[in-house]
Amino acid sequence: MTKYKDLGLVNTKELFKKAMKGGYAIPAYNFNNMEQLQAIIQACVETKSPVILQVSSGARKYANKTLLRYMAQGAVEFAKELGYPIPVALHLDHGDTFELCKDCIENGFSSVMIDGSHHKYEENIALTKKVVDYAHQHDVTVEGELGVLAGVEDDVQAETSNYTKPEEVEDFLSKTGVDSLAISIGTSHGANKFKPEQCTRNADGVLVPPMLRFDILEEIEKRIPGFPIVLHGSSSVPMDKVKIINENGGALKDAIGIPEDQLRKAAKSAVCKINIDSDGRLAMTAAIRKYFKEKPSEFDPRKYLGPARDMLKELYKHKNVNVLGSANQA
Ligand code: G3H
Ligand code: 13P
Ligand code: ZN
Repeated sequence: MTKYKDLGLVNTKELFKKAMKGGYAIPAYNFNNMEQLQAIIQACVETKSPVILQVSSGARKYANKTLLRYMAQGAVEFAKELGYPIPVALHLDHGDTFELCKDCIENGFSSVMIDGSHHKYEENIALTKKVVDYAHQHDVTVEGELGVLAGVEDDVQAETSNYTKPEEVEDFLSKTGVDSLAISIGTSHGANKFKPEQCTRNADGVLVPPMLRFDILEEIEKRIPGFPIVLHGSSSVPMDKVKIINENGGALKDAIGIPEDQLRKAAKSAVCKINIDSDGRLAMTAAIRKYFKEKPSEFDPRKYLGPARDMLKELYKHKNVNVLGSANQA
């Protein structure tokens, strides 16, 4: 058993308490390789932001679970070396089984998500409670989920019916004992969060996606005041990155994200954790595609992964300062 405290990590309890009080959200950035991790830590140290390092089961398979654990431990030390020891949590993203959550807890994770949102309500409760009971024995925090995030392939009707039902949240919390709750209010995973026909055009001809369902968020906040809420699928899909990708051989069509001002508004509410993965992927891809086009004869990976890491770092710094409000909170 590797205890997260021995790796220098923290769970999310204190992070969320402060975020709730301070009206900001903790960034939860996904990583699966060294350059992503370096960029996250550099950005969060430079902006003095706490951070949740997020690892999916796919990332664990890709990078190797032992390596990832040492990378997280290394990240804590790296932050110290950079001169500002920020709080770092290591979180399992979208855990789908008790066994996976248990394995992460035994391998140094300080926080896990058990995503039972695709199960029937009672099954979601049973699975989530099982994970909570085990995790809390080790002082590991647990994120549950109610409501299913819309996929762009769904029709509008299906999306509407998958929003979190506020009337379920108190019951879910009391029956499971989760420490935070992911909800569905209109965000979704990936770079195509809305169809163009769901959007309107502003005066400059830019597509503006529909508003997140802040009414549902407010209703949930009323029912469980002070309880940490999590937003998945919160990439903004920056158009400058999409443009670089498409101008350099990429083919991203109808890429649309969550506008930053809506995330800023959410971060000031009970939303204490905002999940961002796709924007990092876009930034890395943009930098690498540009480099390959401009320097076709280069073949040293450091030459193109270096600029990718720099672009990623600037993206994360921007988010901490201007979107999540987590800068200067570490
Ligand atoms: O929500 C999912 C995250 O973006 C992780 O994606 O399973 O491809 O690593 P992944
Ligand atoms: P994005 O695809 O919007 O970055 O969402 C990431 C996420 O929710 C990870 O759990
Ligand atoms: Zn997610």
